[in-house]
Amino acid sequence: MDLYAHIVGWGMYAPETVVTNNDLAKIINTSDAWIRSRTGIRERHIANEKESTVTLATRAAKEALDRARIRPAAVDLVIVATFTPDYVLPSTASLVQNELGARHAGAFDVNAGCTGFIYALSMASAMIEAGHAEVVVVVGAETLSRVVDWQDRATCVLFGDGAGAVVLQAGEDPGGVLSTVLGSDGAGGNHLIIPGGGSRLPATPQTVADRQHFIKMNGPEVFKFATRVMGRAAKEAVEKGNVRLEDIDLFIPHQANARIIKSAAKYLKLNPDKVYQNLQKYGNTSSASIPIALCEAIAEGRVKDNDNLVLVGFGAGLTWGATVVKWGLPVPYQQRQWWYRALRSMHYRWAKIVAKIGWLLRVLESRMAHRLLRPLEYEPEPEPEAPDAPAVETIAPPEVPPGANGRASNGHASNGDAAKLPEPTIEQK
Ligand code: ACO
Repeated sequence: MDLYAHIVGWGMYAPETVVTNNDLAKIINTSDAWIRSRTGIRERHIANEKESTVTLATRAAKEALDRARIRPAAVDLVIVATFTPDYVLPSTASLVQNELGARHAGAFDVNAGCTGFIYALSMASAMIEAGHAEVVVVVGAETLSRVVDWQDRATCVLFGDGAGAVVLQAGEDPGGVLSTVLGSDGAGGNHLIIPGGGSRLPATPQTVADRQHFIKMNGPEVFKFATRVMGRAAKEAVEKGNVRLEDIDLFIPHQANARIIKSAAKYLKLNPDKVYQNLQKYGNTSSASIPIALCEAIAEGRVKDNDNLVLVGFGAGLTWGATVVKWGLPVPYQQRQWWYRALRSMHYRWAKIVAKIGWLLRVLESRMAHRLLRPLEYEPEPEPEAPDAPAVETIAPPEVPPGANGRASNGHASNGDAAKLPEPTIEQK
C-alpha cells in the first residue's frame, strides 16, 4: 500500500509591529525608493521583546493544527526549519512540541538557511511515505531581526520576522507532496554567513565588538546564485513529479527579491498570474517565507483543489530546493465555533500546566534519587599494603615561586604549602 503525504492544515503568524522603508530611512542611510526598486519590499514585521522563534512558531503551528482538526496528541513529529533558534540547545522544535502539548511527538530542527522549509517538508513527507509517521507538523520560523546588523544598510532592509506551518497527514489517495529536489554548494558558504558564535569562532567580547554575530552577505553573489538555481530546481522537481511546466497552477517561491522571482518565472515561462509574491509586506522571512506565502495564497483563493503547486527556495549554505505539491483538501476550512476555540485554548493552557508539573516531578525525582542512593554509593576498600614493596625513589618538585606558571598569586596561596597542588611523583606518572 502506497502512502502519500497530504497537506491538511496550514497556519501563519507575523508579529504586530510593522516597520516601513520610511521608518528605516530614519535610522540608516537608505530610502524607500532604493529598497523598493532593488527588492520590491515595502515593509516588514518585527518581533517584540516578548516574542521569539518559539512563540512565533507555536502560533503558526496551533493555527495549522486547528485547520487540520487534529489533536496535538496525535502528532508524531514536529520539525522546525530555522537558523534563528531560541537556543543552540535545546532545539526549537522540542520547545514548540512542549507548547503544543504534542506529548507523543518527536522533534528536531533543520537549518538550511532560507531553503529550510523545503528541506523540512522533504523530511516530513519521506517519514510519512516510509510509514514511520502519520501526522507531522512542519514549521518555518525566524526572528531575523535578532541577527541582522541594524548598522548595515545592505542587509537590514531585506529581512523580517514571521512563521508559517503546515500539517502533513498520511493518506492512501495519490497526491500531496509529489516530488522534492534538494541541493547544496558549501563552497559558497561564506557568501551568506553569521561568522561568530559557533565552534569556529566562539563568542568572546572581541567577536561581539567586531559584530561577528550578525548576518554578513555578499548580495550580488547571492543574487547571481539565486537566479541560476531557482528556475532549474523547479524544473527538475516538476519533471520528477511527472508534471509538465504548463501544468503548474501556482509557483510559490522564496520571497527574497522581486527581481529574482521575476527571473525564475521568465526561465520557467510562467504567466505572472501563476506566480505568488507577498514580499512587499513581509520582506525576506527566510524559512518562514514559503509557508507564509502559501497561507496567504490560500486565503486569497489562489489555491484550488487538484492544483499543482511548485514551492522553490534558495539560501545560505548555499542551498536550494524545490517541491511539487498536488493540492487536495480533505478538510475544507470553516471558521471554528466559539466553544471549540475556547476548548482548544483550555487544552493549550492545560498542556502548559502538565509541562510544569512534569518538570517539577523530574526535579523531585532527581533530589529523591540523590538522597536514596547516597548510602549505597560505592566506597572502595583501602588497598592492603604489599608486604615487600620495593622502595621507590621520588623526586621532589622544584620550588615554584609564587605567581609563576601564569597562575594567579594571592596572599594565601603564595605563603602556605597547603594551597599548592602536589606535583606527581615518578611512581604516579
Ligand atoms: N540603501 C541605499 N543604498 C544601498 C543600500 C540601501 N539599503 N544597500 C546597498 N546600497 C548601495 C551600495 O552601497 C552600493 O553603492 P555603491 O555602488 O556606491 O557601492 C549600491 O547600493 C549597489 O549595491 P549592490 O549590492 O550592488 O546592489 P544590488 O543591486 O546588488 O542589490 C541586494 C543589493 C538587494 C542585496 C541584492 O544583491 C540581492 O537581493 N541579493 C540577494 C540577497 C538575498 O536574496 N539574500 C537572501 C538569501 S536567503 C537566506 O538564506 C537568508
